[in-house]
Amino acid sequence: MNMKKLLIIGSSGLVGSKFASSILSNRKVAPNEIELDITDEKIVNDFFEMEKDNFDAVVNFAGFTNVDVAEKERGDENGFCYRLNVDGPENLAKACKKYNKFLIQISTDFVFNGTSDYPGPYSERSLTPDKLTEKMGWYGWTKNRSEFVVRNSGCKYAIVRIAYPFYGENCDLKLDYAKSYLKLFDEGKLFPIFTDQILTPLLIDDLTPALEKIIEIKQTGIYHVVSSDTTTPFEFVSYLLEKARGVTNVVQKGSMEEFLKVEGRTPRSRLGGLKTEITQEKLGIKFKTWREMVDEFIKRSKV
Ligand SMILES: NC(=O)c1ccc[n+]([C@@H]2O[C@H](COP(=O)([O-])OP(=O)(O)OC[C@H]3O[C@@H](n4cnc5c(N)ncnc54)[C@H](OP(=O)(O)O)[C@@H]3O)[C@@H](O)[C@H]2O)c1
Repeated sequence: MNMKKLLIIGSSGLVGSKFASSILSNRKVAPNEIELDITDEKIVNDFFEMEKDNFDAVVNFAGFTNVDVAEKERGDENGFCYRLNVDGPENLAKACKKYNKFLIQISTDFVFNGTSDYPGPYSERSLTPDKLTEKMGWYGWTKNRSEFVVRNSGCKYAIVRIAYPFYGENCDLKLDYAKSYLKLFDEGKLFPIFTDQILTPLLIDDLTPALEKIIEIKQTGIYHVVSSDTTTPFEFVSYLLEKARGVTNVVQKGSMEEFLKVEGRTPRSRLGGLKTEITQEKLGIKFKTWREMVDEFIKRSKV
């Protein structure tokens, strides 16, 4: 069994809370944001100095994740979104280098534009844009830059990209990708769902074995942990409602291309998704298809 001790940051969030609750308490340090504000380099350094003997690896789930709110800070490198998504990982990466810790930085497929001139699904080796253009939202750009600062820090790292996480039972703050659609349906508020967006969702529980393996092999690189096949929101929601509510043909079709044309919309990845073959091979883990993930979600969550 892997007994590496972990510093888990962002353990109260949607994704981090699931991972943190699956790790035995004698294997983890899980400070809250007040104790360890990662945007403050001195606080990070002092914390590492004090706790350096209590962990081997750092898993950073902290992030500013609301894409529309992030957009209001577009261009502002002193704004909270940039500080949390870029300065935070940079401070952690510097400390990891200094104290010889392995850093796992959680990232997203939004580091790519997901536009028709360079569409997904992207592989672990696909190059990410190195300039901010109108094709990418500020959230995606800050996550893109977080990867850049981690890659260039000189520390040992794993960048783990995930997308559309669902089954976040421990997080009261926000609903996950599946539960938010079930809520809309139950309240009679389901809007037309995009048929022209490509994505690869993730059953959050499946992140834990992948992260455990990454921590064990400690191999620097980029990993994709999502479903092994792609879907569209329309397909996902139709299947989810069929399985969870026993209803068919209740979802209306919508177009993301049309949605994004409306002035003032935050640019976001439409032709996205992540390929996982390289990661599956490296980790020796077979990832589920998105349908298998939905089936598992329904079985476990009794929604
Ligand atoms: N949610 C998605 O759809 C999605 C998709 C792809 C990738 N991701 C990535 O997955 C990761 C986790 O996302 P999430 O949805 O779980 O995020 P979340 O629910 O918004 O949680 C964010 C976490 O960050 C912590 N935090 C905030 N400010 C901090 C600071 N200054 N220092 C230390 N910690 C701080 C929060 O702690 P408090 O609760 O104490 O504020 C919270 O635990 C992020 O890197 C995100 O980019 C998410």
